[in-house]
Amino acid sequence: MTTQTTLTTTPVMRRSTQNAWIIDGKAAAAALTREIAANVQASGLVPGLAVVLVGQDAASQVYVKAKGKTAKECGFHSVQIDLPMETSQDELLVIVKKLNLDPAIHGILVQMPLPRAIDPSAIIAAISPHKDVDGFHPLNVGLLASGEAQKALVACTPAGAMRLIHIAAEHLGQKLAGANAVVVGRSNIVGKPMAQLLLADDCTVTIAHSRTKDLAAVVRGADIVVAAVGRPGIVRGDWIKPGAIVVDVGINRLSLPDGKSRLVGDVAYDEALANAGAITPVPGGAGPMTIAMLMHNTLLAARRAAPMA
Ligand code: GUN
Repeated sequence: MTTQTTLTTTPVMRRSTQNAWIIDGKAAAAALTREIAANVQASGLVPGLAVVLVGQDAASQVYVKAKGKTAKECGFHSVQIDLPMETSQDELLVIVKKLNLDPAIHGILVQMPLPRAIDPSAIIAAISPHKDVDGFHPLNVGLLASGEAQKALVACTPAGAMRLIHIAAEHLGQKLAGANAVVVGRSNIVGKPMAQLLLADDCTVTIAHSRTKDLAAVVRGADIVVAAVGRPGIVRGDWIKPGAIVVDVGINRLSLPDGKSRLVGDVAYDEALANAGAITPVPGGAGPMTIAMLMHNTLLAARRAAPMA
């Protein structure tokens, strides 16, 4: 059985020439985006997403543009606020507070990283937790950590990775309950919430990091591996337990001798194909799911704000 939503013709699970199934995050994200667009059209709700960009970081500009484009595809009211690099923390706080009070806006995302003069935690704390579609606000972090994810807005990258794990587990006929899950990386925006989500699905969870002794041995015991450290190819293919589900959240740009560059993940993908039961590629795996989950969170926030929700 291939895992497929009713709204897409591209199957999410594809066969590789080796042991592993490839989890096509682009197909999964496209299916979710279409589902959200259909839902918006049927409900008559117009979710509003405001994305705030301070400065002109090239990578951030690309991400912000992609978020706005997808929001429009979903039928959302999409607003982009571009602010100069010199914007002060107080000026940014005024804008956030204004968006908090705007009834047409259900989701607020302040693109990171911010200029050095602005404390990101002060900005995150100022966003209404009900509009915090990044899931970074301490209230949302706390709800997830205390087992109340259904009341929270959950960080998009781990939530997207979790969806891919569900799709892969269902496809392979594996149960999450009792599975050994290893998260490599302990960041606030991926590693820690990822561990909470796996725990909520009854996995036995280990968080490994740069100080972990014998990372290879820890990963070798994993039925599910989520790599999110930002170190190209740190997880070797022969560490992967036969049949394991591997989700690679790392996105690293490698310079090539010809002056070009290539994106690679934290997992040595070509090696891992021989052992994994299912694995996400980079690019085209966990990455595309992040924007789709942002749309999901914005729709959820709009539904919760609607009088008859
Ligand atoms: N910068 C890179 N990724 C993200 C993200 O998911 N949210 C925000 N706010 N900034 C980012």
